[in-house]
Amino acid sequence: MKIVIASDHGGLDLKEQVKSYYAGKGVALDDVGTYSSDSCDYPDIAAAACNKILRGDADWGILICGTGIGISIAANRFKGIRAALLYSEDVARLAKEHNNANVVVFGGRTMRYEDVITRLEAFENAFFGGERHQRRIDKLDLLGEK
Ligand code: RB5
Repeated sequence: MKIVIASDHGGLDLKEQVKSYYAGKGVALDDVGTYSSDSCDYPDIAAAACNKILRGDADWGILICGTGIGISIAANRFKGIRAALLYSEDVARLAKEHNNANVVVFGGRTMRYEDVITRLEAFENAFFGGERHQRRIDKLDLLGEK
């Protein structure tokens, strides 16, 4: 299992905590930045992580910015990326069961570490439902200006 993880400066502290949670769990965690508290731009961070997933260098990703919103918007601009802002444990489960999310997003300034871990575990323990959900996902990549 290879997970790419990334944050802007607003998510840096939470990212470090999430990395500690995974330490020793046999998970290959690829941190593609940011590496300091200097201000940076979440679209650049989202791009670094999403490209890893789209190239097959990571199975899924964890993205963090201050609210989780900007980096969600950025990630969902990439065709093939389904980024879900996990704002509750139920939503975390449904993001896998219904949306087969390949990126999960958190807010470093809006979410507690303990909640983030509970949501990560709910997401990882869930299974994609397929069938009607797959039909809907297939339509996502066909969306655009007509
Ligand atoms: C950075 O200050 C902040 O705007 C960013 O982390 C994020 O919250 C944007 O949605």
